[in-house]
Amino acid sequence: MDYHKELVCILDFGSQYTQLIARKVRELGVYCEIYPYNFEFDKLKALKPKGIILSGGPSSVTDIDAPICDTHIFSLGVPILGICYGVQLIAKLHEGEVQRSEKREYGRAHLFLDRNDLLFDGLADGEVIWMSHGDSIVKMPHGFIPLAHSENSPYAAIKQEDGVIYGLQFHPEVHHTPKGKLILKNFLYRICKVEGLFSAKSFIEMVTKKVQAEVGDGKVICALSGGVDSSVVATLIHKAIGDRLRCVFVDNGVLRKNEAAEVLEIFKDRLHLNIRHVDARDIFLNALAGVKDPEKKRKIIGRLFIKIFEEEARRVDDAAYLAQGTLYPDVIESVSFKGPSATIKSHHNVGGLPKRMKLKLIEPLRELFKDEVRVVGKALGMPDNIVHRQPFPGPGLAIRIIGEVTPERVRMLQDADHIIREEIERKKSFRHVWQSFAILIPIKTVGVMGDERTYAHVIALRAVESEDGMTADWARIPYEVLDVISRRVINEVPGVNRVVLDISSKPPSTIEWE
Ligand code: XMP
Repeated sequence: MDYHKELVCILDFGSQYTQLIARKVRELGVYCEIYPYNFEFDKLKALKPKGIILSGGPSSVTDIDAPICDTHIFSLGVPILGICYGVQLIAKLHEGEVQRSEKREYGRAHLFLDRNDLLFDGLADGEVIWMSHGDSIVKMPHGFIPLAHSENSPYAAIKQEDGVIYGLQFHPEVHHTPKGKLILKNFLYRICKVEGLFSAKSFIEMVTKKVQAEVGDGKVICALSGGVDSSVVATLIHKAIGDRLRCVFVDNGVLRKNEAAEVLEIFKDRLHLNIRHVDARDIFLNALAGVKDPEKKRKIIGRLFIKIFEEEARRVDDAAYLAQGTLYPDVIESVSFKGPSATIKSHHNVGGLPKRMKLKLIEPLRELFKDEVRVVGKALGMPDNIVHRQPFPGPGLAIRIIGEVTPERVRMLQDADHIIREEIERKKSFRHVWQSFAILIPIKTVGVMGDERTYAHVIALRAVESEDGMTADWARIPYEVLDVISRRVINEVPGVNRVVLDISSKPPSTIEWE
């Protein structure tokens, strides 16, 4: 089933929740895409959306330069749902009046229904909702009627009297609005009248067909790292074209302990992918010898990886395609997605490959968010330890060894990291932890083991919670777990006699130390 037939478009006015709206809509089985608020009308129309959602945003519609979408969308006849800034814009553009409130309404409120409407089917009177706004509608827009009010907002929900334009002053997408998902479901299924064609199954079906049609009987190369994205890409393409997918797995010597063996066991032995294992540990470690500067480490690893991958790719006769794990957030040109973090550290992934290699790109995950990739991975029968694997940086442990990377330091960090993986990463109760890992601080401190004085290295434990890696909060790992990790690292890792905990959030710190 082609889920694109039921596309819902979200016009983004810069809200921190835009992505969340998209994810909720998709969780409800409806494919949606995010576009900037000023996306051209003709292009939007050509997409034939079944519904349009106007997101919230940080601006005020009372500002002279307030962002405005093309007003033609209101005469398309397609259902529209404005959320927060979205409803204020609808009001302003339909002769209503919006004023800066004296008091910002923020937090919990209750929704009192003024009339029955499909949008609130299944909701009781007085449901809890989440408000976050400075402006309020003070005069109803022309042709609209109020549907519900809250303690402080007389027009908490409005609707076009003879049409399909709706607006909510509160945020149905956040979990603080417990019935928010039902409201979105009503909008999609009762008002936009979709059937709900989007699922892991329909995605896999569509992508398989698409890859088969695109590649024909050609060959595809893929750099498999064992991370979630490249693993799902490889498994999907393998499903579509079998052995004509050639995977290259490069061991750069700064992977986690046993990583190469685990990845090969899963993909080669269990899932039967065609994989070439390149043991380049010595090449990378030799190139890194004596290098302390983090950016230099990144560049060395990035460049060497490209060189080795290119050599391997050349061995595959007449390969015409390169598969990559690009995700939806990398694709959208949306207002709220432009984070500042990209420029702080140079990230070297496979991104640089295609142009030089003259291969056509295949990006089967372009439409998916990270959590959807995991769902697809699960539906493809991939094991939990791959599907729930934490993000791991391209330069690997090299940027977690502060200062010079030596085989001995790699060994120490791998051992400490392995203990953390055993204690945190593999436990389901810690799945909310975005990343948890060890850092080797190459200073020595004094300790005492038995009756012996020791003078050995320090391991830092970093564990963070995050949505996307752009911002992060340090994870509150229970003391008992920290205690086990600390004891195990000091007892089991030769060369380490102290463990410290990193309690900084991003910003102002970053997740990785280098
Ligand atoms: P920072 O340290 O910038 O990390 O807060 C944000 C996220 O990006 C990952 N990271 C990298 N990933 N190549 C990568 O592929 C890199 O050079 C790199 N540096 C950081 C980091 O693990 C975190 O998830």
